[in-house]
Amino acid sequence: MDQLHTLLEHWWADFRQGNPSASTAYALLTAKEGTIFHDHIALRTFNDETVNIDTLMAPLEAAGYTYRAEYAFPKTHVYARHYAHDMLDLPKVFISQLEVGSFSGELQHHIGELLSQIPPQSPAQWDIFMNPRPWNLSFAVYQALREESEYAAWVSAFGFRPTHFAVRTEAFAHYADLTTLNSLLKQGGLELNTGGGEIQGSPEIYLEQSSLKASTIVNQFSDGSYPIPGTYYEFAKRYSVPDGTVFDGFNLESAGNLFKSTQ
Ligand code: NI
Repeated sequence: MDQLHTLLEHWWADFRQGNPSASTAYALLTAKEGTIFHDHIALRTFNDETVNIDTLMAPLEAAGYTYRAEYAFPKTHVYARHYAHDMLDLPKVFISQLEVGSFSGELQHHIGELLSQIPPQSPAQWDIFMNPRPWNLSFAVYQALREESEYAAWVSAFGFRPTHFAVRTEAFAHYADLTTLNSLLKQGGLELNTGGGEIQGSPEIYLEQSSLKASTIVNQFSDGSYPIPGTYYEFAKRYSVPDGTVFDGFNLESAGNLFKSTQ
């Protein structure tokens, strides 16, 4: 298996391990629909050049991912891009970075301390994803970051691993419709994220998405282990645009709401 597939398998195994409800949903859908493909995964980082989007995407670009579009979320000081691969069964990568300079000196100091722990040549190599949180931090620092930015706190605790995997639903035989799919998930005892409604987006903008509530993960800090909001599983239904091709971008408003899913 090549490095890209090894990494995607590693991320998927890691994601399922930290998110039992994703495993339950995946098993439910596999039983009903057969093979499940993922529409996208989402990564988060900081805009410092040691770990920014360009740096983290370098190995993935070398493996065939190409830049497709960019998105700005000025209210939360987040900038994002999405990348896709010509092998259509591979998920798109939605990657965002926090504009650290827009926050307090204290937050910038904490992020600088974390980044200073990264060994010099690790950026731009696959290894950074295998040890996704290349720093130690205390629960007190996590909490201080969380006061200002849920995003900064999440990256500090979990590092460079997917915040979510999103299932591609439009080819499903029975559960392509998100209302029907959501009913199945709820009957299976799973809890949906309801911030902004159970379904984000609409056919008019060619993309609808739902997600499960974020898992709670007991995370290791330098001063102990604490349960914190972790990752979440998402479901994306894409519609055809007027020229007949399937919409392959992201919508600013629903993506913005989904940044709140791990709060
Ligand atoms: Ni998503």
